[in-house]
Amino acid sequence: MGRLPARLLVTGGAGFIGSAFTRRVLSRHPDVSVTVLDKLTYAGNRANLADVESDPRFTFVQGDIADAELVARLAPDVDAIVNFAAESHVDRSIEEPDAFIRTDVYGTFVLLEAARRSAHQRYMQISTDEVYGHVPDGSSGEGDPLHPRSPYSASKAGGDLLVGAYHTTYDVPTLLTRASNNFGPYQYPEKIIPLFVTNALDGEPLPLYGDGLQIRDWVFVDDHCDALELVLAEGAPGRTYNVGGGNERTNLELTRAILALLDRPMSLVRSVPDRAGHDRRYSVDTSALRALGWAPAHDFDTALRLTVDWYRDNEPWWRPLKSGEYRDYYRRQYGDRLASGTAIE
Ligand code: NAD
Ligand code: TYD
Repeated sequence: MGRLPARLLVTGGAGFIGSAFTRRVLSRHPDVSVTVLDKLTYAGNRANLADVESDPRFTFVQGDIADAELVARLAPDVDAIVNFAAESHVDRSIEEPDAFIRTDVYGTFVLLEAARRSAHQRYMQISTDEVYGHVPDGSSGEGDPLHPRSPYSASKAGGDLLVGAYHTTYDVPTLLTRASNNFGPYQYPEKIIPLFVTNALDGEPLPLYGDGLQIRDWVFVDDHCDALELVLAEGAPGRTYNVGGGNERTNLELTRAILALLDRPMSLVRSVPDRAGHDRRYSVDTSALRALGWAPAHDFDTALRLTVDWYRDNEPWWRPLKSGEYRDYYRRQYGDRLASGTAIE
């Protein structure tokens, strides 16, 4: 692999994927330093960075990517910006879209403005396959039209379009990646895998939306981070790269697999009223990324087992997250739904 830029500004680095990327880059590249800029929203967690806190090549700054003054102060001292910062949960975007527009669209604009004014080697935007919308058959290519259908995916698509515009108009050396659903350690327990694993460990119901036959393509977070390192080192400026594990599963299949690993019964599963505008299927064509030399190193069953074991062994990490604000969110999101839910066999 080619060399990474020496000084990285990793925004959203206290979240699930950004912290995995930060831990991985610092452990694998002794000549690279990382400044994390993170607002520490409900999803940001310094504990995710505990492994690197004492590394002299690591700096943490608490702040907002939409704060242009702060970003303008940090940007000249780095060689590349890697933007993970986002509001990232579809259900919360349906409940309250404002923060998604502010961070995922306006925040991206602020970072791109800083990149335009600095002679950065790279600006890399971490995006999602959800911008392509529902894919009835085949797989989305990077040139396919965008059909985002939730406030989350629409705000991410807005960020993607700005990234393209800043490359075309100002020649900012941008890279854009669109990954499928990630899973692994340190994922906030609002997303389906950590939610279902931790609920099952507690003997709580698992709220499966609708018929559970929606399809997601799962990629293990370390494989995603490998792809990001490769694209950051070797990607062609202005290009977009899809990232996907090639593990398409229905939510029902996924739920069965989780319960089997935990030796818990299917009677925990409740079919609950579906998410509004729920995309049935995502699928990405990853040939551009594979042409750079990437292939996932983890097979799905092994990585799911590793993930389930991690949550079982790291209760002190997730237990505090499932209190306070989370309890209110959970009641709002699931209270009525669970009351009207039905059993699944
Ligand atoms: P996450 O919700 O776990 O973490 C997001 C991080 O961004 C948190 O640390 C949060 O504090 C921070 N943040 C939010 N608003 C901010 C702001 N205004 N300024 C600074 N920091 C802010 O999300 P994640 O799952 O790690 O996702 C990271 C990125 O990857 C996002 O851009 C997301 O759209 C994208 N992505 C995620 C997935 C997935 O399956 N999780 C898949 C594809 C793409
Ligand atoms: P999620 O983890 O929220 O990721 P995304 O919406 O970004 O794909 O959801 C993954 C799938 O699981 C999606 O089809 C919605 C479904 N789901 C449930 O059935 N129940 C739940 O409680 C959650 C959070 C998700």
